[in-house]
Amino acid sequence: AQLLVLHGPNLNLLGTREPEVYGRTTLAEIDADLRQRAEAAGHRLDSLQSNAEHALVERIQAARGDGTALILINPAAFTHTSVAIRDALAAVAIPFIEVHLSNPHAREPFRRHSYVSDLAVGVICGFGADSYRYALEAAIKRLAS
Ligand code: DQA
Repeated sequence: AQLLVLHGPNLNLLGTREPEVYGRTTLAEIDADLRQRAEAAGHRLDSLQSNAEHALVERIQAARGDGTALILINPAAFTHTSVAIRDALAAVAIPFIEVHLSNPHAREPFRRHSYVSDLAVGVICGFGADSYRYALEAAIKRLAS
């Protein structure tokens, strides 16, 4: 199947951005690892990082027509602000897993609310770069069932 991984704002800085919170793994390393694991399981994986809300909205809309079976998304700061990303995910009705490197519930109060969690298949947070790997594992299991 076709999987789509979306990364929101500032995740292009992974590796050097607040490493005590987000770890030292770069986004390129995360994407390469996910692609390799997805392909080993017989799937295809496309990924996009953007700092722009409209680019993420447009990629989610495009997923409706490109055969995407499941989305892994770390909306980053847009998690806590974006009705537009929520509405796009609701509109395309493609199942998605919400991912965070950190545990937003253990941080500032404004990170406790997510505009997308109640629409997600599930949420994985708090395991650093491994959060993505666990989410992919859950995605692969779901696609097989
Ligand atoms: C994040 C958590 C968000 O609160 C924050 O704005 C991010 C990254 C995470 O992966 O831990 O940019 O989504």
